[in-house]
Amino acid sequence: MPEGMSYAPQTRPAYRLNPDMKKFYITTSIYYVNAKPHLGHCSESAAADALARYYRLRGEDVFFLTGTDEHGQKVAKAASEAGLSPKEFVDSIVKPSLELWSRLSISYDDFIRTTQERHIEVVQLFLRKLHENGELYESEYKGWYCTPCETFWPKNQLETNVCPECKRNLEEISETNWFFKLSKYQDWLIKHIKERPDFIKPVSRRNEILSFLGQPLQDLCISRPKNRLEWGVPIPFSKGHVTYVWVDALINYISSIGFIRDKEKFEKFWPADVHIIGKDILRFHTVYWPIMLHAVGLEPPRMVFAHGWWSIGKLGEKMSKSKGNVVDPVEIVNKYGADALRYFLLREVTFGLDGVYSEDALVGRINNDLANDLGNLLNRTLTMIEKYFQGTIPSGSGAANGDDNELITLARGLAPKIDASMIELDFSGALAAIWELINKANKYIEVQTPWVLDKKGEKQRLQDVIYNLAEVLRIVTIAVLSYIPASAEKMWSQLGIAEPLSKAHFSDIEKWGLIKAGTKINKGQPLFPRIEQK
Ligand code: MSP
Repeated sequence: MPEGMSYAPQTRPAYRLNPDMKKFYITTSIYYVNAKPHLGHCSESAAADALARYYRLRGEDVFFLTGTDEHGQKVAKAASEAGLSPKEFVDSIVKPSLELWSRLSISYDDFIRTTQERHIEVVQLFLRKLHENGELYESEYKGWYCTPCETFWPKNQLETNVCPECKRNLEEISETNWFFKLSKYQDWLIKHIKERPDFIKPVSRRNEILSFLGQPLQDLCISRPKNRLEWGVPIPFSKGHVTYVWVDALINYISSIGFIRDKEKFEKFWPADVHIIGKDILRFHTVYWPIMLHAVGLEPPRMVFAHGWWSIGKLGEKMSKSKGNVVDPVEIVNKYGADALRYFLLREVTFGLDGVYSEDALVGRINNDLANDLGNLLNRTLTMIEKYFQGTIPSGSGAANGDDNELITLARGLAPKIDASMIELDFSGALAAIWELINKANKYIEVQTPWVLDKKGEKQRLQDVIYNLAEVLRIVTIAVLSYIPASAEKMWSQLGIAEPLSKAHFSDIEKWGLIKAGTKINKGQPLFPRIEQK
């Protein structure tokens, strides 16, 4: 570096995804309502929720959006098979979905349904803008169409007449439609992606899209003729057409926050900081969506993070009714509890990779991580507080030996480890760091043997050890709040801390000595009982 020159100081706090972030706008994809929510939906929602909660705990102004994608052929078909009108059908699916999200403590700020007037209005405004800007044209379309995927496939991407995505037969269709001039923005998009390493994550997905963009882009057919599909948003300047369901669906991310209708809110939250989506819908979010936004003069989202897929039993095996390997999340929650499922989904695989669900693996996590590690630490500590101190947290002397210092150092060093993982959306890594502290505290009990201290009458040392354990539990409780919120609330109440957990701040994790001596605990029932396996 030449003399006298220095690099600009790094002003971005270590935990922030964007340097100028004054708010945090996070979304899941919006789920199709052709069937009830499945494990994949739960995992996406749990991940977005954990991130939203983490930023709220950090004191950021968070807006968390989720919802349902209710138009299109898939939904219309499922409705007619159920003998219901599309609207009756979608209502019948949305109700149990909302119940499931509430049981799983999904703390969304808005739940958008694409059949809501507030959304339809924005879709139509958006299309009008594209039309006025000269971005659309009408043309005869002949192509191979996959009904289940609702996708047209260009001839150059087909080897046979089966869908490259779902392997079902394609139909050849000829009709007049509206097209969006996607191709003219190809170079702009490539540059946009290349200049922003964080725009598409993980990096393997970024490479996938850059390689896709190595081929010429086709313009996007954004309409469906009403005689083929009525269940969609009418195109305002074309009587015979409804909007292609993907164009309708993507717009949810701006209709929720009031595009055109609520200038202040929209300007505050747009662009989205993260769209969390699955790997199968990457192209829609990182090619069509940024170009659509750019064409109306809006900035693309800051990050699109594509997660992997869960399969049942074997890696890569699709969940499907015909294979009989669909698991109903409601049954899992009824049997094992919502936080057990959240914990499993967030811990089992690094977010972004594919994972395998099995009941054995879930029970393994419950018994090892939740019951043995966390549950035992909590239970043993509370039991000792009852037994040795009549249920009141004793005061520590402030003196610390080598073992105490090791424990305290690990506890105080937890926050940066969580930050480093969360910035990568590595929930599993964040949980692993928390569990390192939990395990250390369990070992601390074994080494300090409070029962021996009690026998020997070493009162002050016993007080110090128990105080340290209670303090670790305070820290652990705040730390796990983003991942297993209902359990964290119960832990907090068992510890008897007077201030509500909702008032806690992430920085409280870095401080030592906040739990007050004299606090009366409420031991209650063990939070994570072991599951007896047959
Ligand atoms: N409606 C569209 C999304 C529109 S967003 C503007 C859609 N819906 S979906 O219900 O089919 O999928 C919703 C999300 O669930 C997607 O991100 C998808 O990747 C995810 N998953 C669907 N099956 C999954 C697994 N088996 N495992 C993990 N996630 C999975 O696509």
